[in-house]
Amino acid sequence: MGSHWAPADSSAVEQAAVAPYAARRRRALSDQFQGERLVIPAGPLKVRSNDTDYRFRPHSGFAHLTGLGLDHEPDAVLVMEPTEAGAGDDGGHHRATLYFRPMSGRDSAEFYANARYGEFWIGPRPTLEELNRRLGLPTADLGELEVAITKDAGVVHVGGMRIRLLREVDLNVDALVDTSRINTGVDLEESDQLDGTLAEALSELRLLKDEWEVEEMKKAVAATVSGFHEVVKMLPRALTHERGERVVEGAFFARAREEGNDLGYDTIAASGNNATILHWIRNNGQVKAGDLLLLDAGVEADSLYTADVTRTLPVNGTFTDIQRKVYQAVLDAADAGFAAAQPGVKFRDIHTAAVTVLAERLEEWGLLPVPLEEALAPEGQHHRRWMPHGTSHHLGLDVHDCAQAKRDLYLDGVLTPGMVFTIEPGLYFKNEDLAVPAEYRGIGVRIEDDILMTADGPVSLSAALPRKPEDVESWMAGIYGTSGE
Ligand code: GLY
Ligand code: MN
Ligand code: MN
Repeated sequence: MGSHWAPADSSAVEQAAVAPYAARRRRALSDQFQGERLVIPAGPLKVRSNDTDYRFRPHSGFAHLTGLGLDHEPDAVLVMEPTEAGAGDDGGHHRATLYFRPMSGRDSAEFYANARYGEFWIGPRPTLEELNRRLGLPTADLGELEVAITKDAGVVHVGGMRIRLLREVDLNVDALVDTSRINTGVDLEESDQLDGTLAEALSELRLLKDEWEVEEMKKAVAATVSGFHEVVKMLPRALTHERGERVVEGAFFARAREEGNDLGYDTIAASGNNATILHWIRNNGQVKAGDLLLLDAGVEADSLYTADVTRTLPVNGTFTDIQRKVYQAVLDAADAGFAAAQPGVKFRDIHTAAVTVLAERLEEWGLLPVPLEEALAPEGQHHRRWMPHGTSHHLGLDVHDCAQAKRDLYLDGVLTPGMVFTIEPGLYFKNEDLAVPAEYRGIGVRIEDDILMTADGPVSLSAALPRKPEDVESWMAGIYGTSGE
C-alpha cells in the first residue's frame, strides 16, 4: 500500500499576503521580551467524543503571529529564540521558527494508516517546505521541539535562559516547560506571572488591527450580511416549523460555511421571549408571527477573523407600536454610542453614552424606580435590570478579542484608529418581569454593529444591514412580501 504514490509537490506554493504583516507583529512582540525564549503553541486537536475530533482551530495568539488560519496546524508551536539585540528577524531580537508535524511522505505508514493525521484519511497537510514558503518562516519538525524549548533553559541570574510560555493552549507543551523549570530550579510561581504577561502582551498586540486584518474583518462582515439576507428569505419556512429558530440558525450557518470558515460563535436565534435570554443558543423555540426575532450571528472568515452582528426583526415584517417604541430606544442608544466613539475618547464612554439614552427612555416610560440621576450614578444602575451587559467589546480573531489586555488599555483605554469593536445596546423585558407593564413583557431587542475606528471617526462595517425600523420593514418586504404569514 505504501508504494506507487506520486510524491507531494509544493514547488508552486507562494508567499501568503499575510506573511509580512505577521512578521511585523512578531517584530513588535520581540521588542517587549528581549533575551527571552517565547513559546506560542497552536494547540492540539480537541476530542468531541470518543474518536471524533472537532474541526481544528488554532489559538488566536498563534494565528496572529503566524498568519495561519483554518486547519493549521494541530500541535504546531511557534518558538521565538532570542538573539543579540538587533540581530534577529527584521532587525529585532528573536529568530522565529515554526515547529509542526509535517505531512509524511506517501510511502509512510501514516499516509494510509493514521486516521487522525494521514493524508489518505484527512487530505493533504503542509510539508515543512510548503509552510516555509507560505509564511516566510523557518520551519522544523515537531520532533525537534523538545530540545528547542529546553536547551540552556534555567534560572536567569545563574546564566539560564528564561522561557515564557503561552499556557493552557497545549498541555503537552505546558508539561514540557514545567518539567524543564522544575529540573533547573526555576520558581514556578514567578514563571506563572511571567507567562501571564506574555498572554497579556499577545492580547494587547491585537488591539490595533493592521490593514490586512481590516480587510479580513470586512470579508467576515460581508458574509455575515449575506447570512442575514438568507435568514429573512427563510422566515416563511421558519414560521411553519415547530423549531423555527433552528431553521434560522441553519440558514445562517449555510452561509457561514459557504462564504467563510465557520461561525465565529454559536448563533443566537431567539424569537419572542427567548430574545430576552442573553445567551440563548439552544435555538429550539418556535418563531411566531407577531414575535420579534433577535439574531446575533457572525461569520468567521478563512483567516479566522469574525464578525459579530445583531438585528432584531419583526417576524411578520411589521413592528407593533410597543415593539417599535422599544426598538427605537435601542437604536437611539446605539447611535449615541456611535456618536461618542471618537478617536481620543475612552472606550468605556461608548457604554456610558448608550446606557444614558436607555435610562432616560426607561424613566420617560415610568419604569425606573428612582430618579434618572440616581440610576445613572455608579451605585445606582437600576437600568441594568433591562440592559445588564457591556455595550462594546473588541472584535477580531476572537469574538471577544483582546480579552487579556490590561484594563487601562481596554476599558480605560483610548479609542485609536485601527481598533475594531462592537456597539450593541439592548433592552430585555422578560415574560416573568413583574416590574414592567404587561405590554413590554416578552420583548427583547439588541442592535449590534461592527465599528472600525479611523482618524476621521467611527465607520460602521455592518452598515449594509438596515437598522431603522422603517428600513428593516422595507428590507423584509422586499425579500418576502409584506407578510411572512
Ligand atoms: N455574540 C456575542 C456578543 O455579542 O458579544
Ligand atoms: Mn458582541
Ligand atoms: Mn453578538
